[in-house]
Amino acid sequence: MFVLPFGKPCAHDCLLQMFEAKINHLETRPARMSKHTAEDLDCFVRCEVLTCKISSLINSLKRVAEDVKTNREEKAPWFPKKIRDLDKCHHLITKYDPDLDHDHPVSKEFEYTAQETATWKEIYQKLSSLYPTHACKQYLGAFYQLEKYCGYQADHIPQLEDVSVFLTERTGFKLRPAAGLLSARDFLASLAFRVFQSTQYIRHSSSPMHSPEPDCCHELLGHVPMLADKEFAQFSQDIGLASLGASDEDIEKLSTLYWFTVEFGLCKQNGSIRAYGAGLLSSYGELMVSLNMASLWWVHQQARLHVPRSVKFSSQRPLPSLFSAGFFPTTRGGGALCGCP
Ligand SMILES: [Fe+2]
Repeated sequence: MFVLPFGKPCAHDCLLQMFEAKINHLETRPARMSKHTAEDLDCFVRCEVLTCKISSLINSLKRVAEDVKTNREEKAPWFPKKIRDLDKCHHLITKYDPDLDHDHPVSKEFEYTAQETATWKEIYQKLSSLYPTHACKQYLGAFYQLEKYCGYQADHIPQLEDVSVFLTERTGFKLRPAAGLLSARDFLASLAFRVFQSTQYIRHSSSPMHSPEPDCCHELLGHVPMLADKEFAQFSQDIGLASLGASDEDIEKLSTLYWFTVEFGLCKQNGSIRAYGAGLLSSYGELMVSLNMASLWWVHQQARLHVPRSVKFSSQRPLPSLFSAGFFPTTRGGGALCGCP
């Protein structure tokens, strides 16, 4: 906004053109507090201009106008405002199945081969034997409900549609099929609408106990039971809401928060360390190693001893290094451990 003294009617046009500004709005009114004549003008201009040219433009404007006031707006990245806008949130980092349609509805049946079901069975039996001693109580409660009401069993891979109905009834979350690992921005944006983007394919039978990418074992055994918990569902949605329109830098921070809680979180319940992170609860090796390391860490912390932070992250191996430090209290009166790289 600026005051254009009488006699310089075209000066502002010239200046804005000079700096290649794109004018979105231009309005003039008789000046409210004229210093010169009654024909001075208050000018309101809303325009887009390159950041590097803003200072020059304003300085030039000040030479021909008075009371130049600016209000800078940073352009926020696009983000979905309605649930149907999620159709545009499917930028993949990796894609497992090139034929999978991004937009197909959650009701589509996914057919698994006998070998894939056998892989699921092996994973299911091994992990479910660990859950009573390694998973947090919220996870266990939901897991037993899923077995009772949602077809969770060793001989059958549940369909996303059935699981989605179960989740929607409990916390309002829906599962939406995804063709692979999505960009962090797209994935987090979906959470804002209580939509969880889920892969449907299953890891290769040669490596049943670990998958470097999310697969149906990771989604169904790792994420779904926790998404059936009301507080956890709210926490997940809050991360998603915070991501809408956020800068790339803030998306990175939110992804890190998500990684060390939703994916690899541990908590302390009734004196023992339990897992609530999906990356742990869907991988036999990571579940075993992380809880052992976390228990050791806890003992060392209690004894005020130093724990070396030496093991590096690898997507091909379990992630023991993620549990080297950190503790934050939770509202449940227990405690949650988070890993620090
Ligand atoms: Fe995950």
